[in-house]
Amino acid sequence: MLQSSDHVTLMSEADRLRPISVATLLDQNSDRVSQLTLTGAGLTLDASKQLIDEQALEALAASAAGADLAGAYERLVTGAEVNITEERAALHTLLRGTAHDALSALANEVTVTLSRMRAATEAIHSGDQVGASGQRFTDVINIGIGGSDLGPRMVCRALDDASPKVKTHFISNVDPHDLDVVTRDLNPQTTLLIICSKTFTTEETLTNAQRARSWLIDGGVSETAIGQHVFAVTTNLTAAAEFGIGEDACFPMWDWVGGRYSVWSAIGLVIALGFGWSTFASFLAGAKAMDEHTRAAECTENMPMMMALLELWNTRYLNTETHLVLPYSQRLEHLADFLQQLTMESNGKRVTLDGQAINQVTAPVLWGSAGTIGQHSYYQLLHQGNRRFSADIVLPLTNGDVDKDAHRKLASNALAQSRAFLIGRSAEESQALAVDKGLASELAPHFEMPGNHPHSTLIMNSVNPQTVGALIAAYEHKTYFLSVLMGLNAFDQWGVELGKVIGKQIRATLENGEGLDDLDASTAALATAWREANS
Ligand code: F6P
Repeated sequence: MLQSSDHVTLMSEADRLRPISVATLLDQNSDRVSQLTLTGAGLTLDASKQLIDEQALEALAASAAGADLAGAYERLVTGAEVNITEERAALHTLLRGTAHDALSALANEVTVTLSRMRAATEAIHSGDQVGASGQRFTDVINIGIGGSDLGPRMVCRALDDASPKVKTHFISNVDPHDLDVVTRDLNPQTTLLIICSKTFTTEETLTNAQRARSWLIDGGVSETAIGQHVFAVTTNLTAAAEFGIGEDACFPMWDWVGGRYSVWSAIGLVIALGFGWSTFASFLAGAKAMDEHTRAAECTENMPMMMALLELWNTRYLNTETHLVLPYSQRLEHLADFLQQLTMESNGKRVTLDGQAINQVTAPVLWGSAGTIGQHSYYQLLHQGNRRFSADIVLPLTNGDVDKDAHRKLASNALAQSRAFLIGRSAEESQALAVDKGLASELAPHFEMPGNHPHSTLIMNSVNPQTVGALIAAYEHKTYFLSVLMGLNAFDQWGVELGKVIGKQIRATLENGEGLDDLDASTAALATAWREANS
């Protein structure tokens, strides 16, 4: 955790830099881009458009050393109980082969599970495992929510292939419309379900799993043959068995893997089914390469450490209000959704590890969408609104054999936005524009843009299994390092529990009016309106 002396230093560094523009820093130092560009595991991070200089970076690196980020990484990968409120390790790194001698028993369990996943994947692809009517599986539906959905959903979209081995689909929301839309065009006889729930108690997932089961039965899969169409991924084998899923069809999860860090486990089975085992293996290898980079690189050369320091710097010291993730790749359209859970469920906390109130902001509010769609929507606020933000622009350099012209246009937009965030448009330029347009000079302020928005650009050769694995692992480690700098627990999520408890009470109210009088007047009126509409 940062010491108060670090805090004072960083405050004064931020005060020193605030009046300076990043464009000036770039003009003044011809080595700035190379000095602030880091590479690792197939990714390159250009941080030269961040409002930072050598002196501020030294102060941040000193804070990182004081907080012992390198030691924190070792504690993570060696299975220390980093999740203190649930008394658990957070060993997602072990799932991608970042092993440690002391963890060989757990590593064996992972290996056995990976072998079973591989065997199941290959049996389905070869046609050795078929549906109840003897037909090959053509589609797989992943049923899960949060960490049991967002990671695999994001990766499957990223690795999308014109001829997937099995088509992948996702159902998450308890709104029946979600399931109805997904199943509408599918054939139950050729569809496999994967019910992903670490706890196997999550209302949305169990409700959807029951409805999907009925959909199979209504579609002619007999009750006794349901087992041929359903896999489960869970720590709760008993609940899965009660649901009718036998041990052979269950893939284990472990309490030492957090839901939002679990895409590397059997939660990723849908990825292997969609795109083949070697793709899933490459995805794990990409993440492992990022683990190795994170262990070996010096702080200012270390991508996740630098990303964490920049997030700390922007959120706490430059007072940015939100953080945008702007992938210029439709393949990465779900990246921000995935990172919202990773970042905000992990670090959206208000007390330190020892329970003391944190009086500064913690996780940034993260949002974003695939370029260029956002450009025609909320970028107006980015350029001319008066909110402060930071951003990661993510830009794959190549995109296979797609239309080169369209690909060039996409990249031009990414670079143009990055430059516009940097330079904005000055008062003088706005005056000149007014003259150019034949407009009154009083209108010039409407054309001004402050620019100087701190952001990084993350590039990679292409979106492929390795780079996607490395990208997610970089953000995972960034998230953990930020928690260490802020002194909080990144691995619990008590904040989501209250809504679940109240949800149970209100379900009874909506069903039979029970407890209506115990509710506040507003919630009671809403519940009454719902009951009247559904009577
Ligand atoms: O929303 C809270 C949460 O517990 C997430 O942390 C988790 O990823 C999600 O629910 C799903 O949980 P499970 O995999 O147990 O169904």
